[in-house]
Amino acid sequence: MLNNEQLLHTIQIEIEPALLGINRGADIPADWSQRAIYAGPAGASAWINTVASDRSQPCNSGSHSDLLCAISSLSPDWFISLGPGNGARDRILVSPLLTNNAHMRYVPIDLSLGLLFATISTLVGQVHIPAGIVADFESGSSFIPERLCSRFKSSDHILYALLGCTLGNLDRGENQFADSLHTTMRSGDWLLIEVATRTNAWTFELDPRARHNYDDACRRLFANGISLHTGEAIEDIFRNFEQRVGYDQSLTDVPGCIAIDIMDRKTSRRILRTSRYDWKQLLGWLSERGWTVLYEHNVFEDERCGLGVALVVKR
Ligand SMILES: C[S@@+](CC[C@H](N)C(=O)[O-])C[C@H]1O[C@@H](n2cnc3c(N)ncnc32)[C@H](O)[C@@H]1O
Repeated sequence: MLNNEQLLHTIQIEIEPALLGINRGADIPADWSQRAIYAGPAGASAWINTVASDRSQPCNSGSHSDLLCAISSLSPDWFISLGPGNGARDRILVSPLLTNNAHMRYVPIDLSLGLLFATISTLVGQVHIPAGIVADFESGSSFIPERLCSRFKSSDHILYALLGCTLGNLDRGENQFADSLHTTMRSGDWLLIEVATRTNAWTFELDPRARHNYDDACRRLFANGISLHTGEAIEDIFRNFEQRVGYDQSLTDVPGCIAIDIMDRKTSRRILRTSRYDWKQLLGWLSERGWTVLYEHNVFEDERCGLGVALVVKR
């Protein structure tokens, strides 16, 4: 029986060349905003600290029961996690999925090598992880499809997951991501997504994400994104968080969706976009882009804000 340390050596880590330097401390591209907050060792530890702090803070998410309901009848051969963070939320899904198919394999894909290792440490020994991929799933490069597709047999069933409201954070918007993922997926593959939602009574002013409502761990995460662009110390940005950070409202690619753009006032650069979807219009957008909705559940936490989970299949 191999221990976790030995199991780690059995996992092939594939790193997209453009991300090798970034994970070693090279400059990040000028157009990275949300991608910058997770970048480098400081970004990885800032996300891990954010998850470890209060889950109810505005930059977190998640109803486990809806995710479990969505996947209850699936028995995929592969579980491909797009942006697993530290793998804690994927772990909740792995056990029921393995009950349905004991041979399922798990492949995490993240821009952060530190977070990829954290994910592998969380899940090693629980599920077979043949590979982990460090890549940018927004870049549209052929790296991810090439690394994945060579592993799949034509009869394999594949589940992709994009959890933690990441769809609403994307630097290049939803359309480009959706079209590139749709091209990578094969007909019959599933996609599980989780997003923040809004009612018609939602207002920007009353959204907890549009105020300085973030705890210290989350503030340091945002400060990492600023620091990687400006070279300032994370702690200096953290100390001046309330003067430094502001909030704007904008639209996204998905009809009915409103984004809160968390901004660095000093550079006018966006730190992170966090989006609230109109649930019905999001389901319509998924359908228009080539997926059929198999499961959907949206729960409003109050009269304005909610969380939705959808499982869709590529037509
Ligand atoms: C909001 S966190 C969600 C983490 C986890 N899925 C959860 O639900 O707790 C976003 C994750 O996606 C990764 N990520 C964000 N944009 C990415 C991109 N363009 N390519 C690859 N990974 C990305 C981040 O490094 C981070 O691990």
